[in-house]
Amino acid sequence: MSNEADGKFNTVSVVGLGYIGLPTAAVLASRGLQVIGIDVSEHAVATVNAGKIHIVEPDLDIVVRSVVSTGNLKATLIPQAAEAFIIAVPTPFKEDHQPDLSYIKAAAETIAPVLQPGNLVILESTSPVGTTEQLAGWLAQCREDLSFPQQQGEKADINIAYCPERVLPGNVLQELVANDRIIGGMTPRCAARAAGLYQIFVRGECLLTHARTAEMAKLTENAYRDVNIGFANELSVICDRLKINVWELIRLSNRHPRVNILKPGPGVGGHCIAVDPWFIVSAAPQEARLIRMAREVNDGKPNYVINKALKAANQFKQPVIGCFGLSFKPDIDDLRESPALAITLALVDAKVAEILVVEPNVKQLPDALTRREVEKVHHNEALERANIILLLVAHKEFNGLSSDFLNEKVVIDVAGVLNH
Ligand SMILES: NC(=O)c1ccc[n+]([C@@H]2O[C@H](COP(=O)([O-])OP(=O)(O)OC[C@H]3O[C@@H](n4cnc5c(N)ncnc54)[C@H](O)[C@@H]3O)[C@@H](O)[C@H]2O)c1
Repeated sequence: MSNEADGKFNTVSVVGLGYIGLPTAAVLASRGLQVIGIDVSEHAVATVNAGKIHIVEPDLDIVVRSVVSTGNLKATLIPQAAEAFIIAVPTPFKEDHQPDLSYIKAAAETIAPVLQPGNLVILESTSPVGTTEQLAGWLAQCREDLSFPQQQGEKADINIAYCPERVLPGNVLQELVANDRIIGGMTPRCAARAAGLYQIFVRGECLLTHARTAEMAKLTENAYRDVNIGFANELSVICDRLKINVWELIRLSNRHPRVNILKPGPGVGGHCIAVDPWFIVSAAPQEARLIRMAREVNDGKPNYVINKALKAANQFKQPVIGCFGLSFKPDIDDLRESPALAITLALVDAKVAEILVVEPNVKQLPDALTRREVEKVHHNEALERANIILLLVAHKEFNGLSSDFLNEKVVIDVAGVLNH
């Protein structure tokens, strides 16, 4: 497809004011557009309209306060007419790892009544291949008076595109503007119009393609990461069996000019890399063998670590395990879907050892741990009191842990803290 952009926009509606939707809405509003944010959460709507934010993202509060005070961003529970609609609602999977598209269907039903000829609808939620076409189908069912790209191609009343988001939480405002964007239209005109909207705030390149390719590109990026982390995690288990230091092995192997092995860890956390590859597996279960296996390897790593820690605890009359790090990656406070937290909880519930938790990035331990009366301690206290040191996350505070203490302990270094 050509990279030609098309169209001007004054009013944009963003459906779903979460980690993706709210920064997108705020940045568009900061460029002078009238932005209507729609959410089903009364709390989210009220918070945004008060010029505040209900999520954690550096500097977002400043931008939201500013665009709400100028009247460029308004949040609402009730859909209103706009020239373009951006849908950024959740796409989790169900228990059987099948994608749950109910939020996207609900968003389609929300905006359908206010759609007008000439509107552009963009899906940003990470989605299985074919979801944009499904969205178009749901919209067409609701609005028989309008024509859609699957019926009228380039002549349709409504243009529809898929534009995945690849921002890094914690750096969203920078990456939203700087990253290249993949823009997948149901037709070339759909893609060109969507590019016109993104070019209002994106400094990176807008790369135009078809909706299905754009859907698969987002899933591919996260599956690529997952497979590579799975390779490192599998290596770590193999190295345990063969009594080799995996960190040294990887360091040496990466001196090959065309090898770049990622770091092993306690598993894969967060709500993207551990979820999105399943959308590929569920769409092509026979073919996606490596991608499924990587998911299984990564999902199996926490159990491997738990068993290793329990085995170490067996050596002591009064085992005390110091769990270092709870978040899903280093130097953040985000505990969502964190394998380190899951491991810590499992060790507490095993009731074979006293558990001390070290997590410098949170003030308070999560409810699941405080309910079980688990103690949060400074790392020096954990080093003193624990006989098993379980290094789960490579936070910078753990660099240079006193080796005087460590020599007397059983150390399980899942995160490579001692091998930087
Ligand atoms: N958070 C990330 O780092 C990230 C990165 C890339 C892609 N994504 C994808 O973006 C999508 C959104 O993720 P998020 O992290 O922003 O989710 P989120 O849970 O932070 O926000 C989703 C928002 O949508 C609202 N919502 C739910 N149903 C709605 C409906 N029918 N109408 C209006 N609002 C509705 C919720 O109340 C919530 O405020 C997901 O598909 C996710 O996989 C997220």
